[in-house]
Amino acid sequence: MKEYIADLGIAAQLEQASSRGQKLFERLGGRPTLDRVHKIFYEKLYAHSWIGKYFEGIDRELITNQQSDFMGMLFGGPKIFSGRMPIDAHMHMMITAELFEVRHGLLRESLAESKINEPEFSEWLAVDAAFKRILIKKSVDDCKKRFNTDDIVNHLKAC
Ligand code: HEM
Repeated sequence: MKEYIADLGIAAQLEQASSRGQKLFERLGGRPTLDRVHKIFYEKLYAHSWIGKYFEGIDRELITNQQSDFMGMLFGGPKIFSGRMPIDAHMHMMITAELFEVRHGLLRESLAESKINEPEFSEWLAVDAAFKRILIKKSVDDCKKRFNTDDIVNHLKAC
């Protein structure tokens, strides 16, 4: 996990975040806050005309919980995430910089609607933004199937 965080280039941010006295996870109010934000966030993702297509057939409650497990772990909470690391979970998805920014904007709205204050608001967004470099792809040829049975998931921007 330490190596993974170092690879993302967020080690310094997380270190700074916990040196404020309490870990980001605790300052946010723990798991109930992550659940509250992610409920709103995934409602927005599933309802979105473009990003929503990526989530067709994916159980919303499960993925919402997985996201809270994963971000909670990064923010210094319990290490209970049992899924794939994002680079492996998204290898078959064509994620452009524009798509990433749309998702990031919906996260920003969800944090604002959940009344998350500074500095936690910006720290959360900074951790999320660190994934851009590893998740976006230049071309669909850069996507790889996770399993033989996988389809490459590529949805064009809805008009
Ligand atoms: C536009 C960008 C993104 C899209 C379209 C997207 C879409 C998805 C989809 C469809 C899944 C379900 C995969 C499956 O179960 O087959 C998934 C899983 C997941 N995503 Fe994303 N995602 C994006 C960005 C991110 C980012 C930035 C993070 C982390 C900050 C993230 C964290 C996760 C995690 C933790 C899982 C669960 C992995 C597992 O349990 O195996 N995603 N994502």
